[in-house]
Amino acid sequence: MDVISVIRTKRDKGELSPEQIDWVIDAYTRGEVADEQMSALAMAILLNGMNRVEIARWTAAMINSGERMNFAQLSRPTADKHSTGGVGDKITLPLAPLVAACGAAVPQLSGRGLGHTGGTLDKLESIPGWRALLSNEEMLSVLESTGAVICAAGDGLAPADKKLYALRDVTGTVEAIPLIASSIMSKKIAEGTGSLVLDVKVGSGAFMKNIEDARELAATMVGLGTDHGVRTVALLTDMTTPLGLTAGNALEVRESVEVLAGGGPKDVVDLTLALAREMLDAAGLKDADPAKALADGSAMDVWRRMIAAQGGDPDAALPVAREQHVVHASESGVLTTLDAYAVGVAAWRLGAGRARKEDQVQAGAGIELHAKPGDKVTAGQRLMTLHTDTPEKFEYALEALNGGVLTAPEGTEFTPNPIVLGR
Ligand code: URA
Repeated sequence: MDVISVIRTKRDKGELSPEQIDWVIDAYTRGEVADEQMSALAMAILLNGMNRVEIARWTAAMINSGERMNFAQLSRPTADKHSTGGVGDKITLPLAPLVAACGAAVPQLSGRGLGHTGGTLDKLESIPGWRALLSNEEMLSVLESTGAVICAAGDGLAPADKKLYALRDVTGTVEAIPLIASSIMSKKIAEGTGSLVLDVKVGSGAFMKNIEDARELAATMVGLGTDHGVRTVALLTDMTTPLGLTAGNALEVRESVEVLAGGGPKDVVDLTLALAREMLDAAGLKDADPAKALADGSAMDVWRRMIAAQGGDPDAALPVAREQHVVHASESGVLTTLDAYAVGVAAWRLGAGRARKEDQVQAGAGIELHAKPGDKVTAGQRLMTLHTDTPEKFEYALEALNGGVLTAPEGTEFTPNPIVLGR
């Protein structure tokens, strides 16, 4: 087999054979296929697609590139969720302890942000002492003792995806349904969860900008999960505006703790509960009551134990950025647009995200929103506060917000999108 013939097959809109797929994933993982060759193949896949048979084989080859975990020894059913990525998407933080408080075991392998989308591990690392890197034994021990663990996937899990995802990020080949579906599902199937709820984001701040593409991605992933014996459900959820009132690492941890304390913004609470119900249903725990577990503090108890078990201090003060800049409304009316992509890029430029894999994120950087689409605003009122340790970046961040905040005249009828768009 040679890689150039594999690239040519896809470049010329052909179907990759099972042998070609198995070979190219294995050879790439072992370093025999070069990054530039895999980039060419990824671009050919982005432009010409893959059919269901090819996607299934590609996913299986990525799973087989590494180890498979197994949680069969746990006394509780396992349930996991994965978001396709968005702005202000801190849902994993309250959700994992909440679902654990309701009786499931939640092995939540999470990622870091790159570009305008945030990453769960970067958020949690703003808690002093908290560790994302656990051995498989440590992960199992936290899961057994607290019911939930949120950590980085070990190097042994779907190593082909680790290499390929980093490559796609710097070659403009992230937004391909076959590549996103196989990337997410290879990790989740290799992780060994019994059930999985997918949060497929739709809108400017998501990889899928329209509902048709999001539906296709969701259907592809549900098909892959089901074929591998994982009970898989997908919700399509709105990402035209950031989730909640914060985008940025420590800011989002603070908001998540508010939700666990029984408060927090309504969209974050609603989505956390919707995903919790799906996870509990899929895990066979239909009688559990997640709203009660939020209200009575049992989810908060699991959070505190889970953070402490990974070296974090749940009572420590969270980092605060050195400088703030307030943006005021320039006119009165109804806020109709607070664009998720614009806010995500601005938060990233303030230091909440990284431009290259090796960059450090600023724990305190990000954006706090004081109004959301549908709210009445008065000229001069505070719309958002930008936070950073590098104030020379304020102007660069403000540029990203240009055109991303729109107001209609007072009295205009405006209904914000519902948070859950479909199932
Ligand atoms: N998240 C992943 O893990 N992979 C993708 O390709 C996109 C989002």
